Amino acid sequence: MPDLEALKKEAALRAAALVESGMRVGLGTGSTAKYAIEEIGRRVSAGELTGVVGVATSEASDKLAREVGIDVQPLDPKPLDIAIDGADEIDPGLNLIKGLGGALLREKLTEVQARRFIVIADHTKLVTRLGEKAPLPIEIARFGFLSTIERLRKLGLGGRLRQPGAQPYVTDNSNYIFDAQLPEGTDPAALERQLKGMLGVIETGFFLGMAERAFVAAEDGVLEMVS
Ligand code: 5RP
Repeated sequence: MPDLEALKKEAALRAAALVESGMRVGLGTGSTAKYAIEEIGRRVSAGELTGVVGVATSEASDKLAREVGIDVQPLDPKPLDIAIDGADEIDPGLNLIKGLGGALLREKLTEVQARRFIVIADHTKLVTRLGEKAPLPIEIARFGFLSTIERLRKLGLGGRLRQPGAQPYVTDNSNYIFDAQLPEGTDPAALERQLKGMLGVIETGFFLGMAERAFVAAEDGVLEMVS
């Protein structure tokens, strides 16, 4: 049984090594991004990095970053030097599905402002086409969510409202998430345009053409993918 945690950490350390003093850094969300935040915090606490500002993509990452000593500030219009985050799927062109951790809106808002967006993952996230293994998370407004889901179904999307227990999952932005199954042959760019024009849809988990580089860890080493 391969130790996926060790692989995630290996990828995260490669990306965290790109952070330099004075940088404004987008801090991702999830079990892989956590290792990057911890490493950046370690370097800050050791005095190896000074003047680093972090912008967190979720309440959880905000809390962790503060705990490890990173100066966390809200997203403002100034560009970020780098953003480091995990992904749920990575295709050969470095297009991504993100949002199984529920932070897609803040992640996209943050990562689109980064000069360099670096993806970190273990090899299980590699796919030949988006939607192959993971659903596409779509953040939708709570008000009228059943109507929005009806519109999504009319578009040919199967899937379900994310509901881990008795109640639907609620994002940091107080919205719901519909996890859509993508039919084979889906054109991600075309679907993204349709979804972004749909009433009730707040954001999608497609991160197309955004990543500059990915560090993908496997048992035989870290694969570096460049867009
Ligand atoms: C959160 C995300 C995460 O980056 C994605 O789910 C990957 O998480 P993990 O590193 O835990 O597999 O998009 O919204």
